[in-house]
Amino acid sequence: MKASVYIATTVDGFIARPNGELDWLPGSDGVVDPELGDEDFGFSEFMNSIDVLVMGRNTYELVISTGQWAYGKTKVIVLSSTLKEISEIVSNTVCLRSCTPIELYNELKESGAHHLYIDGGKTIQGFLRGNLISEITITKVPVLIGEGIPLFANIPEDIKLTHLKTIAYENGFVQSKYEVN
Ligand SMILES: NC(=O)c1ccc[n+]([C@@H]2O[C@H](COP(=O)([O-])OP(=O)(O)OC[C@H]3O[C@@H](n4cnc5c(N)ncnc54)[C@H](OP(=O)(O)O)[C@@H]3O)[C@@H](O)[C@H]2O)c1
Repeated sequence: MKASVYIATTVDGFIARPNGELDWLPGSDGVVDPELGDEDFGFSEFMNSIDVLVMGRNTYELVISTGQWAYGKTKVIVLSSTLKEISEIVSNTVCLRSCTPIELYNELKESGAHHLYIDGGKTIQGFLRGNLISEITITKVPVLIGEGIPLFANIPEDIKLTHLKTIAYENGFVQSKYEVN
């Protein structure tokens, strides 16, 4: 089984503004840019390759507050030690857990999962610290916002990466894929 990160950041490395807003990320409001046509930067292909999406409570709360659940019937696990229940709207596919990344990873591996999508800054950092991430795809959006929620923090040791490929899209997005060594 492998676990991957697929995420958009600003050029200065943030995944959201300090209050969690994603207004710097084109399309995050659900409005499709006509110049992009059906370009989705590989997201559908990536989603089709995963069995389970693991996200942190902050990411879940942001997504559910938009009223747009982009994950269809994909099984989603929300990690939280404080949330009491999941919204009824998505309760068929989403469940709530509180455990360490390695406990969840081993449990999902035993259940037969092949590919996990790990999402949310703190959640990604926890899985990275546990050496549980195999691939990272970062789409850099050409904007600087100065402050926000960082993608990478609290990493006690260097994590070496191998660059696999980079695609520069016409709209200025630059997407790089790395393997975690
Ligand atoms: N740019 C992008 O592509 C992108 C993608 C995803 C998210 N985002 C944005 O990033 C922001 C959220 O990131 P974030 O760094 O704040 O956090 P996050 O990872 O989404 O959520 C952090 C929370 O997850 C829970 N959690 C994580 N690991 C846990 C564990 N092992 N056991 C129990 N609970 C655990 C904790 O919740 P409790 O406090 O309840 O214990 C923790 O406070 C949102 O604004 C979201 O919109 C952006």
